[in-house]
Amino acid sequence: AKYQVLAVVGGIAKESLNKKFYGAMKELAPKDFELATFDISTLPFFTQDMENDPPEIVQDFKELVKACDAVVFITPEYNRSFPGVLKNALDWPSRPYGQNLWKGKAAAVTGASTGSIGTFGAQHHLRQCLAYLDVDVMGQPELYFNASKAFDENGQIKNDAKKLVTQYWEAFEKHLEHLHIAE
Ligand code: FNR
Repeated sequence: AKYQVLAVVGGIAKESLNKKFYGAMKELAPKDFELATFDISTLPFFTQDMENDPPEIVQDFKELVKACDAVVFITPEYNRSFPGVLKNALDWPSRPYGQNLWKGKAAAVTGASTGSIGTFGAQHHLRQCLAYLDVDVMGQPELYFNASKAFDENGQIKNDAKKLVTQYWEAFEKHLEHLHIAE
């Protein structure tokens, strides 16, 4: 694959809509994209006491961040922001000071809820952190994925939703080309 894409999913519940959304996104990803994800619920809480010599699981996550060409953040909304578990996953690779592994990464932000504009607050708070972390986030299209309408009774993604995801991926590939991420 041309692009190694790390999917950071902020939903960690067994039946998470955002996990399900990620599954659909993975199936519809461009052939040039190789997607990997990481269970961020396995990361301990960030503390500066461990930032210089983090546990192995954190080192594994940091290696993935370091190695990937691009990141897609798929987040639920909790109280008009993104979940703490996702903030924790952002914080680890940002440290120690001066060794921010997110810097210069290309990224896209999206999220699933059961409403049509759900995850707006989450996505925009996340964008604020990513701007500070020097991440090149795609501006358009935004994708507020309404998971209550997107799947049929067999759990298959419906055509309208499929089109939104496909357009999103196409735009992201253009974003990566624009940034000259490819070899
Ligand atoms: C929510 N939910 C929610 N939804 C929303 O649109 N705006 C919000 O501010 C919140 N706040 C919120 C706080 C907390 C603590 C919970 C548990 C839930 C609903 C939430 O978006 C919904 O449960 C999603 O299904 C969660 O995503 P996953 O886990 O299904 O991926």
